[in-house]
Amino acid sequence: MAKSTTRFVCRECGAAAPRWTGRCGACQAWNTLFEEALAETPAAGPRRRAGLASDKPVPLAEVPSDTVPHHPTGIAEFDRLLAGGFVAGGAILVGGEPGIGKSTLLLQICGQLARAGRQVLYVTGEESPEQVKLRAKRLGLAESPLLLAAETDADKIGAWIAQTKPALAVVDSIQTVHAPALGAAPGSVAQVRESAALLITAAKSSGSALILVGHVTKDGAIAGPKTLEHMVDTVLYFEGDRLQNHRLLRATKNRFGATHEIGIFAMTGRGLEPVEDPSALFLSQGSAAQPGSVICPVVEGSRTFLVEIQALTTPAHYGTPERRATGLDYNRLCMILAVLERRGGLHLGSQDVFVNVVGGFEIDEPAADLAAALAIASNFLDKPLPEKTVALGELGLSGEVRPAPQTEARLAEAARLGFSRAIAAAPPGGKAKGIEFLPAPTIRQAIDLLG
Ligand code: TYD
Ligand code: MG
Repeated sequence: MAKSTTRFVCRECGAAAPRWTGRCGACQAWNTLFEEALAETPAAGPRRRAGLASDKPVPLAEVPSDTVPHHPTGIAEFDRLLAGGFVAGGAILVGGEPGIGKSTLLLQICGQLARAGRQVLYVTGEESPEQVKLRAKRLGLAESPLLLAAETDADKIGAWIAQTKPALAVVDSIQTVHAPALGAAPGSVAQVRESAALLITAAKSSGSALILVGHVTKDGAIAGPKTLEHMVDTVLYFEGDRLQNHRLLRATKNRFGATHEIGIFAMTGRGLEPVEDPSALFLSQGSAAQPGSVICPVVEGSRTFLVEIQALTTPAHYGTPERRATGLDYNRLCMILAVLERRGGLHLGSQDVFVNVVGGFEIDEPAADLAAALAIASNFLDKPLPEKTVALGELGLSGEVRPAPQTEARLAEAARLGFSRAIAAAPPGGKAKGIEFLPAPTIRQAIDLLG
């Protein structure tokens, strides 16, 4: 029998199978098997991570407990995500949609480091050096001493890293890089995994921090194997509406710092600028006391800021009413509507309902339930919230309002921005400075506060 020259690898879990099946036998994911050529030279199995190998087992007590130093990049919003800065030998994956600003941010970081006298290598596989220079000019980095190379051969890039031993190497993007020893096409699952492994090993043995840029597929995942996320120490995602000028950088995996920390930037004519006071960004000016608009303090990592939730209800004219949520989970909206209908006594069954979080911010915590529910109720009843009032709390299916975690920090931020009242389930024994509580243990009582 002829020896097979290809195999099928699961994009999600990396399991290999001799023939194609609709469902991965290992992780049970559907339609994730990709064909790849069987390589002769490189070992496709897991690699030993350089710098991690032990000669023999030693008692834990004898392992030196040196704390890993973090090197700041000088861009505060980025350093915050990395708990102070990058770590020598650490690998970071930065994902995001095309045009969101990945190349811009990374060039800025490289520029900052080079200015501070560190050796930096920026490898582009997507643009010509002239294009990068053009961007650098815009960022005021035209004269920067950073090392630039346009290359897609992983072996060469690895060799340059070993040669120049930079403090930081950036590869933009990993999908364009290929390891020639492997027959597969650039961008294929096998190539992305193999090239990433090669670069990570090279960076670890040179003590260089490595940043890989990853493209994102339509459904928001980093293109290529899921295993890529397991190979690196930190995964950062760029978010934000391309038409709006602010960008959020979120850590979804972080071996050296906290996850769910975010960095906030504004895209300007001269690159990405850190936003220190995000509350101002996410509030639409002057509409605070209008029916259908509610301000909610949200917590993201170590930061608290205010966002505005707007709702519009309008009688549905075409059969099934429409429900749309922007910046809020659709299933969460459906639950909130059901609670408003059954526990709040609002008849929303024949209404189209649109909910929007101002500024393109995405809320992913239930603490914003009450604010969203009140925005809908307030618009439907045409009654605004009391002046200078925020709302926070999670909604239960029986209509109860539960206290939000970190209520004090949230209310402190509200007070800082001039708010004086909060509709919430009163926190146990707590009173926030300068904020009057309007207690609402149930959604019905919260609705009664509108007027
Ligand atoms: P880019 O960093 O190339 O995005 P990515 O690498 O994620 O694909 O930049 C994207 C956009 O940012 C581009 O549309 C131009 C804009 N931009 C600015 O608004 N100001 C700037 O200073 C720069 C460099 C880019
Ligand atoms: Mg780019």
